[in-house]
Amino acid sequence: MKAMVYERYGPPEVLLLKVVEKPSPQSNEVLIRTHATTVTSGDCRIRSLTMPVGFGLISRLVFGISKPRQAILGTEIAGEIEAVGKDVSKFKVGDQVFALSDMSMGCYAEYKCMPEDGALALKPFNLSYDAAVALPFGGTTALDFFRRGKLQRGERVLVNGASGAVGTAAVQLARHFGAEVTGVCSTANAELVRSLGASHVIDYTKEDFCRNGESYDVIVDTAGTAPYARCKASLKEGGRLLMVLGGLPDMLQIPWVSMTSSKKVIAGPAAVRAEDLRFLAELAVAEAFKPVIDRRYPFEQITEAHRYVDTGRKKGNVIIRLQHDDESWQ
Ligand SMILES: NC(=O)c1ccc[n+]([C@@H]2O[C@H](COP(=O)([O-])OP(=O)(O)OC[C@H]3O[C@@H](n4cnc5c(N)ncnc54)[C@H](OP(=O)(O)O)[C@@H]3O)[C@@H](O)[C@H]2O)c1
Repeated sequence: MKAMVYERYGPPEVLLLKVVEKPSPQSNEVLIRTHATTVTSGDCRIRSLTMPVGFGLISRLVFGISKPRQAILGTEIAGEIEAVGKDVSKFKVGDQVFALSDMSMGCYAEYKCMPEDGALALKPFNLSYDAAVALPFGGTTALDFFRRGKLQRGERVLVNGASGAVGTAAVQLARHFGAEVTGVCSTANAELVRSLGASHVIDYTKEDFCRNGESYDVIVDTAGTAPYARCKASLKEGGRLLMVLGGLPDMLQIPWVSMTSSKKVIAGPAAVRAEDLRFLAELAVAEAFKPVIDRRYPFEQITEAHRYVDTGRKKGNVIIRLQHDDESWQ
């Protein structure tokens, strides 16, 4: 099968189209024929080993010390189940699914095996593969942080970096959970963020939300520009900073913040759960959650897609469409 392989950390050009062995499912796995995958900010971080401050060594231990341990990147996939292992009971051949492979990656390929108990769910019938594949990464991250941050109906939520994959999901989910949402983005993305349900939009090129006198119950920082030291005055008593992106020094302060104030900082990797994918699919069917798609690239142009995502300017999600040799574009 075709796969985009990288054998060393570096710029987008380390990604090379190769032919590798097609996987076959273990007894508890399904084999997915890929129709779409994505290039996430996470893929670009792992490809280049560009990590938040203090995570350089840890990330080499996780992903491979001198070269990548897993040569195929990609964590989101949408496609059709082509085969199932003998013990699989939840899915059948022909099911249209979407999934988040998370740390096992491997989605930049024509086929991918996933355990049936992994983060795998039936594709919402009203979404194309392109749209469904954009649900998991941002959606599950925002859901997990809101769960850990105990978001309540009626609370004031600010999403910093509201136009990215996590931000566009966080704005929509916070609104769905009954919060009053303020989105922080650049001028060009203000309309997008408002259309997703933000009641207020702050243009970070013109105004610093940490210094405008407003305060919030929950601040979601996906841009890494609002560490606790900078935004604590913008958090109400009992407020929570959901630090989706933060360095190790910021994380080390977390216990001290809890001990010395009524406020909390919540950080670390988001949990990946199949039930969250099913929840996102239900919201998508009810048209209460709409994955935001910026650009689409053919599989052979993943390198180009990585160059674009590396700019840090994407809006929502970047989709990679995969055409198999035996099919024409649908
Ligand atoms: N903790 C976890 O488990 C977890 C999970 C997922 C992601 N993450 C991390 O979270 C971060 C965000 O991920 P993502 O996929 O949402 O990124 P993304 O899609 O690449 O976000 C890009 C967006 O960030 C905005 N942005 C850039 N600088 C900004 C600033 N100074 N203020 C506000 N917005 C700004 C850009 O908008 P403009 O063009 O308007 O500037 C762009 O729309 C990444 O660093 C990722 O590694 C962590």
